[in-house]
Amino acid sequence: MTEQHKPTGRYTQKIELSLKQEIIFTRDIFAPENQSIKELIPTGAEVFALIDSGLMETNPELLKHLTQYLQINNYKGPVENLIAVPGGEQIKNNPEEIKKIIKCIENNGLNRHSYLIAIGGGAVLDAVGFAASIVHRGIRHIRIPSTVLSQNDSGMGVKNGINHLGHKNFLGAFCPPEGVIVDYHLLNTLPDRYYRAGISEAFKVAIIKDSDFLVWLTENAHKASRRCQAEMEQLVQRCALLHLNHIASSGDPFEKESARPLDFGHWSAHHLEEITHNDLNHGEAVAIGICLDLQIAAYLKLISEDDAELVTEALQKCGLPIWHDALLLKKNSILLLMSGLESFQKHIGGSLTLVMPQGFGNETEIHFLSEEILAIALKKMESIVKKVGGEQCLLEMISR
Ligand SMILES: NC(=O)c1ccc[n+]([C@@H]2O[C@H](COP(=O)([O-])OP(=O)(O)OC[C@H]3O[C@@H](n4cnc5c(N)ncnc54)[C@H](O)[C@@H]3O)[C@@H](O)[C@H]2O)c1
Repeated sequence: MTEQHKPTGRYTQKIELSLKQEIIFTRDIFAPENQSIKELIPTGAEVFALIDSGLMETNPELLKHLTQYLQINNYKGPVENLIAVPGGEQIKNNPEEIKKIIKCIENNGLNRHSYLIAIGGGAVLDAVGFAASIVHRGIRHIRIPSTVLSQNDSGMGVKNGINHLGHKNFLGAFCPPEGVIVDYHLLNTLPDRYYRAGISEAFKVAIIKDSDFLVWLTENAHKASRRCQAEMEQLVQRCALLHLNHIASSGDPFEKESARPLDFGHWSAHHLEEITHNDLNHGEAVAIGICLDLQIAAYLKLISEDDAELVTEALQKCGLPIWHDALLLKKNSILLLMSGLESFQKHIGGSLTLVMPQGFGNETEIHFLSEEILAIALKKMESIVKKVGGEQCLLEMISR
């Protein structure tokens, strides 16, 4: 290096960020006596609510109750500051939807002191959170999740995003909400299929983080899946707190490292969602992804074969799919799953890192997965499916 090109100075500046998230578990959030929103948003603040169209259609009273609640509590611009946004993956697949939200923010003169309230499933929370994180470099947002999956998992996270160029969550930002309010009663209108789907995330986190919870799930999750409210509330809260705890204590909330512990069972799930063109929803794909990863873990002697089978059966008992024929699709005689593995690695960057259980409740990482191991795991899955009737379950699910 010549004298001229030597640095003339170098400084290391540490910037410490401390983020606080309030999480409230409640029922009937818009009942006049419910204080949850008031605890998070100061009275008189400017709010703009975006509501999942699926929730709005099945719960038409919600709009009235929300409007009344905002009026009674003197939040600014209540009536016109509400819009419905498309529920489900369509909001994440169409960039026009994000533009519409951005336009609303502009039309209503919202600024960094305003609050965007996203009420809906994981897809709506992801998309609204993304819009909130990019306009004015960040507007405060509050999540009110309305599906099991968003109440026990996605709503607790710090991630927001939309799908782009054919890839899931290709555009996005790490931007924690100011707070999350979980209203169990919002689940009353959720169709059975989505009600069950979120249960798979509870199994995922229990398998790698909490063996007591896993035991509880194997005994009780099927009751939750049949709409026993007490069991579902317990499942949601325990699962949500495990997610939160991980994000707060892992030392890597913004996932700079190669491992994503909360993604156990997810590498193949994302791929299955893509190649089945969302024939499987996220939670269903995760259930299958968990079954596959359990078999891989059993093959690697990280857990016993019996334990892998026990959990697979418990998932199946909840009415979740444990198999999809797309698992066996090949291109040029190579399992398509192998390209799913590659995309997963590309998305995260760094070396291949898959999280696996090492005994239930503990996790480890593997950095290599061959097509041979995958094929063995798939064969084993097929034999369990034959034994417990998972194929039947999948057919029933699709026919609804
Ligand atoms: N940000 C994260 O950390 C994270 C984590 C996991 C999953 N996700 C994302 O979450 C999304 C899946 O979310 P989901 O499983 O909540 O499903 P979803 O958001 O796709 O919603 C499913 C369906 O239920 C409808 N709906 C929502 N609430 C309802 C209610 N109470 N009553 C009636 N209908 C209702 C929606 O309109 C939609 O049609 C995926 O896009 C996934 O990528 C994000």
